[in-house]
Amino acid sequence: MGLNDQSTGWWRDAACYQVYVRSFADSDGDGIGDLPGITSRLPYLADLGVDALWITPFYPSPQNDHGYDVADYCNVEPLFGQLADADNLLERAHALGLRVIVDLVPNHTSDQHEWFQEALAAGPGSPERARYIFRDSETDSPPNNWQSVFGGPAWTRTPDGQWYLHLFDSTQPDLDWRNPEVHAMFEDVLRFWLARGVDGFRIDVAHGLYKVESLPNQQDPTVRRIERMLDSAYGEDEPMWDQPEVHDVYRRWAEILDEFGPDRMAVAEAWVPDSASLAAYVRPDELDQAFNFSWLLADWSAPEFAEVIRRTFASTEPVGASPTWVLSNHDVTRHPTRYGGGERGLARARAATLTMLALPGSVYLYQGEELGLEEVDVAPEHRQDPAWFRTREPGRDGCRVPIPWSGAEPPFGFGPGADQPWIPQPDAWKSLTVEAQQDDPTSTLSFYRAALDHRRRHATPAGQVVELFELGEDVLAFRRGPLTVVLNCGETPVELPAGEVLHSSGPIDGKVLPPDTAAWLS
Ligand code: GLC
Repeated sequence: MGLNDQSTGWWRDAACYQVYVRSFADSDGDGIGDLPGITSRLPYLADLGVDALWITPFYPSPQNDHGYDVADYCNVEPLFGQLADADNLLERAHALGLRVIVDLVPNHTSDQHEWFQEALAAGPGSPERARYIFRDSETDSPPNNWQSVFGGPAWTRTPDGQWYLHLFDSTQPDLDWRNPEVHAMFEDVLRFWLARGVDGFRIDVAHGLYKVESLPNQQDPTVRRIERMLDSAYGEDEPMWDQPEVHDVYRRWAEILDEFGPDRMAVAEAWVPDSASLAAYVRPDELDQAFNFSWLLADWSAPEFAEVIRRTFASTEPVGASPTWVLSNHDVTRHPTRYGGGERGLARARAATLTMLALPGSVYLYQGEELGLEEVDVAPEHRQDPAWFRTREPGRDGCRVPIPWSGAEPPFGFGPGADQPWIPQPDAWKSLTVEAQQDDPTSTLSFYRAALDHRRRHATPAGQVVELFELGEDVLAFRRGPLTVVLNCGETPVELPAGEVLHSSGPIDGKVLPPDTAAWLS
């Protein structure tokens, strides 16, 4: 439900699997994933043991930002299928006991959206332009000094001389949320998908939407690339993010979700600097959850992990929201690579994952992490992230390479085509396919399956209270009811406390926990 004043919402302890549509499974052989592809792999997700999937945008879109540039919010991009395929996916997922969260992109539309096309045609001063943020400039420079998250100025000039704001790509014009028509449109969109049976929404750039009305210059107009949005540099001087007015939108949306019963939810993507600002998005009458990016951004450090855990509970508890935990998504470097890559990176990634799966709240997993996939160094000629085109920095393609399912060469069962998919897969992935891992008890896939199963049996029933305790400077240790969790971030082995080891992220010799390893004890 939208109002999170109950403690029973299914999402509160869900394991939710993020599907990046273009890269999950391709049913028609064009090298691009699609909805029927996802539907065909739902049994895999049910078997993995997740409770829900979040599907990235599959609406009609020129795909400049791979779907985050929406041209029509109430239909399906032909590359990905038809509305009937979305209905079928929902029906099959529900039959398997899986919930489905879809992505909602309210900060901006595609420049191909009919509203933007009408705005361009109607000209300055028109009601059509008033749905976006068009401004004049006295000079040849943009109306202010804001930078796009993807690099370069956040303004583009139209042939008639006016400028429009785009916090992302120039093909993603920002809507003006001070215009009531924008509210009405998105309320219809919510109802459209709720009526079709979706269980929830992931709200893209939920901290955007409102900008300080006078659009003041930033004192330090540095580029806030997505993964750097929580840098310490993020401070007071952010007139385009996290404005107070945005919360009224979510109060209204919570009411709409409620119209459809207690089981519909929304999770915010809000890159805001501190836990208190994040908590505002999940107050009882607003959204249900927000991604906890502090966990994802923490270094490989026991004190840092401990601090994030403390801060997370300190901020969610007073508002009654359930915490979330996330290590990877389609915007950031995959976590085995972040932790150094290779065997050590993977060991750390598995250890961090096992730790997060023990914590109260819900977890968001990103497709391919259950296979231990690393970030791919995508060759410049194959890069497609709009940030790459605007800045010539590598961007996010490396975590978006299509999933290897089976076989010994690309496309590794991704689809029936014979060629490489839309971003080429590395040959080395032949040992990482689902097929190669599914019957190997030491594989990362088997580890995830077992960990999700243990989570359901031992962590979820263990109550909501987490108690951190000391086991050494480089060790994160906590109790949750009868469960004890230990993560060794140091360089030397650690003696485990008393108890039976239920699960570990790597081999354990007796009662000693090696570096880069986590264990659960009962
Ligand atoms: C969000 C998405 C990202 C997208 C951006 C613009 O941060 O996660 O992939 O590029 O919004 O919509």
